[in-house]
Amino acid sequence: MLMGTPTGKKTDGSTALDRRAFLAVLKGAGKFVIFFVLLWPFARFINFNPPKKPKLVTVNRALKEDGFIIEADFILFDTDAGPVAVSRTCTHLGCILNYHELEKMLICPCHASRFSKQGKRLAGPAQLDLPTFRVEKTGADEVTGYIVAVI
Ligand code: FES
Repeated sequence: MLMGTPTGKKTDGSTALDRRAFLAVLKGAGKFVIFFVLLWPFARFINFNPPKKPKLVTVNRALKEDGFIIEADFILFDTDAGPVAVSRTCTHLGCILNYHELEKMLICPCHASRFSKQGKRLAGPAQLDLPTFRVEKTGADEVTGYIVAVI
């Protein structure tokens, strides 16, 4: 059985200081873990979002003049400023938007928020514009399709 002495030296040659040093390291590591465990909820609280890697969606057909192409995540419009990809997720409560060709606007089937082809909020309970996604044209001389970076 190991017995301590008043000087802290044990009969097996180890000292009480070794144990204290080990506990100090453990205590420091615990603070480190607690710091990071609390940091993530705090980061979410202050609305910190790490940048997401975009999902690249390939559209293998060209837009007709003033036309549109509906995909699962976005609607691609031909505008005077070039192709614009507008999210189909309503900024109110997340319903999937439909494009109404006669009215030339996106209308939410849930609570009737309305958005322009550029994603601008026009009416309804939604308070934010729709996100738009980066669009790259594909094809050498003439446009054969698009690559849309959906975030
Ligand atoms: S979810 Fe679109 S208006 Fe409410």
